[in-house]
Amino acid sequence: METEKLEFDLTLYPQPVLRKVAEPVQAFDDELRRIVEGMFDLMARSNGVGLAAPQVGLRKRILVLNPTGEPDDALVLVNPTLVERSGPETTFEEGCLSFPGIYAEIRRPDACVVEAQDVDGKTFRGSYEAFPSRIIQHEYDHLEGVLLVDRMSPADKVRHKAALQELVDRYKRTRPAAPARRR
Ligand code: CO
Repeated sequence: METEKLEFDLTLYPQPVLRKVAEPVQAFDDELRRIVEGMFDLMARSNGVGLAAPQVGLRKRILVLNPTGEPDDALVLVNPTLVERSGPETTFEEGCLSFPGIYAEIRRPDACVVEAQDVDGKTFRGSYEAFPSRIIQHEYDHLEGVLLVDRMSPADKVRHKAALQELVDRYKRTRPAAPARRR
């Protein structure tokens, strides 16, 4: 039987799942493979370079990234740990698929060492710097419920106030109404 392909939608700020600490993946099964495939699919459709499971509404510790868009550069990190962050702090303009149209200069250490599992559950360790390291650190934040808006300078928060409010208003308009309280 052919398994159905997962078609995810982007979870936008301020959906509550983006604020939750994601749970470790326990089962390295076909479901995980389908999730990873669906995440890569959505990332490519959205012209993104990285995506975390909370951004597809899943409270799971899964990241996918591809800094270049070349198939060989695709990377899956399941249950990642940032073992080390090092190098000079650099400033870089970051965006986030959960904050469409919002970009901010964010300071982070240039390099990081990650320990993670692949889709088969095999543990590996990788050292990254510059752009790939930047993506990993941004996506790792998502697993801890930390978002672009938290890393922005106060000046950027002011600059993006209207755009952020628009996202909040949009969320309020589209979320399912709470069940009516009974008297
Ligand atoms: Co993001």
